[in-house]
Amino acid sequence: MEHFVAEEMRRLIDKYRERKNEDLMKLTYEFVKDALHPEPGREDKLYRLEHSLRVALWGKKIAEGEGWDPEPLVIACLLHDIGYVESWKNGAYGAHHHYSRFIAEEYLEAMGYDPEEVKKIGVAIVLHAVSSPTENPELFKNASPFELSVWDADDLDRYDEMRMIMNANRDIGELTAADLKKVAENRLSLAVSSKDRICGTETARKYWLEEMAEGRRLYERLIAQMDHTWEMEQWLAGKRL
Ligand SMILES: [Fe+2]
Ligand SMILES: [Fe+2]
Repeated sequence: MEHFVAEEMRRLIDKYRERKNEDLMKLTYEFVKDALHPEPGREDKLYRLEHSLRVALWGKKIAEGEGWDPEPLVIACLLHDIGYVESWKNGAYGAHHHYSRFIAEEYLEAMGYDPEEVKKIGVAIVLHAVSSPTENPELFKNASPFELSVWDADDLDRYDEMRMIMNANRDIGELTAADLKKVAENRLSLAVSSKDRICGTETARKYWLEEMAEGRRLYERLIAQMDHTWEMEQWLAGKRL
């Protein structure tokens, strides 16, 4: 995709250029907040900002677990979805990660950041949404642990309790016990197969397995609850177990 940064964004970057000696993680958060511009009635913008904060927290935890300096990964995570600014205008949500990369690179260059680090951050940002290891195994195989870590941090935020509730909202209603059991079994098999997801680091893998275990626990309990329906029916029918 051709390099693109909107004029408005360039003006914002120029404003921040004057403050480049301040703490870069704090400054980057302010920059992202300014760019996403959450406003009343646009909860999607606030969601994007808050999601970026949570992803940055996962990035910080991964970096700490791996003994890395947290700054580059926290910055990459904060910036990973900033490209929504363009996608909101043109509807190209499937390209948001490319816009994010272009903006992040121009912003970090303006901040005088190490060009090698800028390059790594750019790749990590694009990788978070470019495809999946099944669609593009080579790309993921050749990526460094750092380059995979924004993708890991993003998924760690998206597959936690929030995703379970979003899924539940979609497929769990006033269903019969048999139907609800089927839904739970499908979700359970997904949670089981997702445990093989490759991760950039051992730290991300540890957190990922914890999240999947939470999902498994929830759906196993749901299946057990549905089974209790028939247990009671049998008990009432005189088959006192
Ligand atoms: Fe994204
Ligand atoms: Fe994201």
